[in-house]
Amino acid sequence: MEKTFVYGMAVSGDNFTDRIRETRRIRSNFEGGINTILISPRRMGKTSLINKVCESIERQDIKTIRMDIYDCRSEYDFYNTFCSEVIRQTSSKVEQAIESAKEFLGRIIPKISISPDSVTDYSISLGLAPKDISPDEILSLPEKIATKRGMHIIVCIDEFQQIGEFPDSLSVQKRLRSVWQHFRNVSFCFYGSKKHMMENIFQNKRMPFYQFGDMVTLDKIPTEDWIDYIVARFNANGKSISREGALKICATVDNYSSYVQQFAWNVYVNTEKEVTDNIIETAFEELMAQCSGLFIQQINGLSAYQMNFLRAVCSGIHNDFGSASILEDYRLGTKSNVTTLKKALQDKELIEIRKDGIYISDPVFEIFFRKQYC
Ligand SMILES: Nc1ncnc2c1ncn2[C@@H]1O[C@H](COP(=O)(O)OP(=O)(O)OP(=O)(O)O)[C@@H](O)[C@H]1O
Ligand SMILES: [Mg+2]
Repeated sequence: MEKTFVYGMAVSGDNFTDRIRETRRIRSNFEGGINTILISPRRMGKTSLINKVCESIERQDIKTIRMDIYDCRSEYDFYNTFCSEVIRQTSSKVEQAIESAKEFLGRIIPKISISPDSVTDYSISLGLAPKDISPDEILSLPEKIATKRGMHIIVCIDEFQQIGEFPDSLSVQKRLRSVWQHFRNVSFCFYGSKKHMMENIFQNKRMPFYQFGDMVTLDKIPTEDWIDYIVARFNANGKSISREGALKICATVDNYSSYVQQFAWNVYVNTEKEVTDNIIETAFEELMAQCSGLFIQQINGLSAYQMNFLRAVCSGIHNDFGSASILEDYRLGTKSNVTTLKKALQDKELIEIRKDGIYISDPVFEIFFRKQYC
């Protein structure tokens, strides 16, 4: 079904706009065997972009594999997912998956379940127990397959920051890197929804994955592209919105991809024929109501000091939190308390550190917080 606006899931086709430069860059990395690390704030469009790049590769000698490791809680969960997805996505039929498992994994016997309505759609679970696992053997699987079949494989791992949460994460990261850095026929693309954790893994000199690949930062989609997109989607469905109206949508949510689409959809469903300012206002109230449950939950978990810190940021303070006047005006406690507050709020992804200071990560959260708590 063709959709007018889409949010809450990866987008494709007519619902995917812009990203021409980033698509070209990442596709070149994929074709040139360069590892890619894609970083952005939440819901900006990482998953959609990687899907698009993978689907746009036409070369027969390149195979892309995509996996999402959000549900992996330990190193062993990861080996299971990694191994199953590599085998499944390099096999066109179940028989080939069984063959690959035998050939490349030797003693591991896969459990394969086939979905009842299709012979090509099957899932494969290897059910590896910790005692069966030889990490090096599993981690080398894509390289063995790529070499044997004379192809290049790109392994794309979404929600990669989960690795940073595994027990004994540093050793796990060392192990992965020590095997993966020697690959000649396989490259990687890592991306994930927790920006701060991704930065810890890839931008910290002491971490094993430091400088593992090309760091691509996904910026906001430019306003002009959003306006063209919104106006076109309304027109295609027999309704109309002015460019000023579309601009108001983008500006309110600071061009954040998911919010632009959600807000535009709220406007669209409230409009009979032509968008008015009143409709935009109503649609925005709806957006706030849709988000408020989650925001209240996040706010309920905060200490009084953390609330004060957010108040300071919302009042336009972005630097010098340790200065005596700011400590006093916003009741932030001691200077060392500020360091703790920053870290805690950054871990919760509520604030982010940009080149020119500290900002609230989510523009709609910021509006909500200002309205309710400042
Ligand atoms: N290129 C695009 N064109 C139009 N809308 C987009 C685009 N990319 C993302 N969006 C919007 O943003 C939403 C989130 O996209 P996606 O899931 O790809 O982002 P993400 O960065 O992977 O999110 P998360 O941080 O939660 O993993 C989509 O549902 C859609 O509304
Ligand atoms: Mg994603």
